[in-house]
Amino acid sequence: MTANKPNQDLSPMKCPHQLDDVDLFSEGAPEFWYEAYDILHRQAPVHRIPGEGFEPGTDAFILCKHEDIAMVVRDQERFPLPGAMAVQHLKGMGGDPFEGPQVNMMVAAMTILRPNPEMWRSHRQELTDPWVGPGAPRNEEMAVRVANELIDKWIGRGSVEFISEFAQPLPQMVMANVLGWPIEDLKLLKYYGDGTDKPSVYGSGHRNILPQEEIDTQFEVLREFREYTENLIKEKRANPADDMITFLTEVEYSPIKRKLTDNEINGIVYAMVIGGLETTQYALSEQVQLLIEREGVWDEIKADRSKVRAFTEDSMRLRSPTQGLSTRITSQDEVFQGVKVPKGSFLHLRWAAANIDPDEWDDPNELKLDRKAGTRHLVFSQGARVCPGATLSRVEQMAAWNTLLDRVESFSYADVNTFLHQPGIMLGTLELNLNVVPA
Ligand code: HEM
Repeated sequence: MTANKPNQDLSPMKCPHQLDDVDLFSEGAPEFWYEAYDILHRQAPVHRIPGEGFEPGTDAFILCKHEDIAMVVRDQERFPLPGAMAVQHLKGMGGDPFEGPQVNMMVAAMTILRPNPEMWRSHRQELTDPWVGPGAPRNEEMAVRVANELIDKWIGRGSVEFISEFAQPLPQMVMANVLGWPIEDLKLLKYYGDGTDKPSVYGSGHRNILPQEEIDTQFEVLREFREYTENLIKEKRANPADDMITFLTEVEYSPIKRKLTDNEINGIVYAMVIGGLETTQYALSEQVQLLIEREGVWDEIKADRSKVRAFTEDSMRLRSPTQGLSTRITSQDEVFQGVKVPKGSFLHLRWAAANIDPDEWDDPNELKLDRKAGTRHLVFSQGARVCPGATLSRVEQMAAWNTLLDRVESFSYADVNTFLHQPGIMLGTLELNLNVVPA
């Protein structure tokens, strides 16, 4: 973080100076993540969290090296997903994963529709790619229109709260349009999105665990979300439109040679909502800060629009929206960087640290617009399980910045910013008051 920002002074945590001080998960930790990564890279790129493993008696390990994480995410057999294992287990016992107590619709649908690597590929290619993957550029014009509508609301005012008036509503409105979610129910989309995301913001520890009463309230919201989406699916079946939900009601999924059930569609909608809203918000809100702080970059990309893409990529590398996820376990004993990691351990993949790994990147803390193979970062993960919405997010970011560069002469910080971040595992600035000079 930039030294003169007040967020670090306001944090209940102190800046880490040695390995013993490093704590990525307690209150205030986001204000010092990048200081902690420097220490982890130097002293413990495989960092043990005692007693936090997947199986009893095992530990969790934070992985920070680009080479380790890139290897892990490419091998689904050796490093399976804990959520998928739970659903497989329920299925093996003869249960209906959609009807289990407090079942996660996304994990249930995704596991049923892609139990093996071939079906994983088909799922992506046939169900999500046409809308949020390689087919996402079809949304470009709509994303530019959304960006313009949002800018219209504040451009004449000379100031903007960038999160609530741009970075947050843009991906919400784009996702609503992609899905065919009624735009008048945008507030509900946010409400349900907050419900799906709750553990990653308010959960504690590397596994984002909520207290039981919070889980109960979360599942109440998710139950409402499920009911709302069921009605929406019925409505789309009755009145088809040119949107993703209608498409999902009509498509025949080749590995099972049938159309999708309402539950399966519901799970995919859940996945789009949990993945597709806040992540891009965080990318946009870090990008505007980099543009204000790193001298010359705004003018450079304004003058040469072919550099906007490199800017979005390297800024996501430098300030990864999803900082880390504990989404893999070890199915056999492993060794990373000389550290033994036994079978049954949790792996916390710290994408953000890998993205500034000095063994992978020259000048890792610099924003560069001319990096060779700049997209080898792990912002969206890699391999078969790479984020299915990466292309849509890139389309949104390009639309946002090209439109802002057209319509804004310059941004600067207003006097009233704390630069504090939300808790959890995402890099989310809470509020960002900016002065705006219109173009
Ligand atoms: C800057 C924006 C985004 C970032 C940083 C991001 C990051 C990630 C990461 C790190 C993963 C985990 C992959 C793994 O475990 O190996 C993931 C998964 C996922 N993302 Fe994204 N994502 C973004 C935008 C989106 C968008 C726009 C959508 C939807 C349109 C989306 C939908 C998903 C889904 C559904 C998954 C779960 C994939 C699966 O289980 O196969 N994401 N994302």
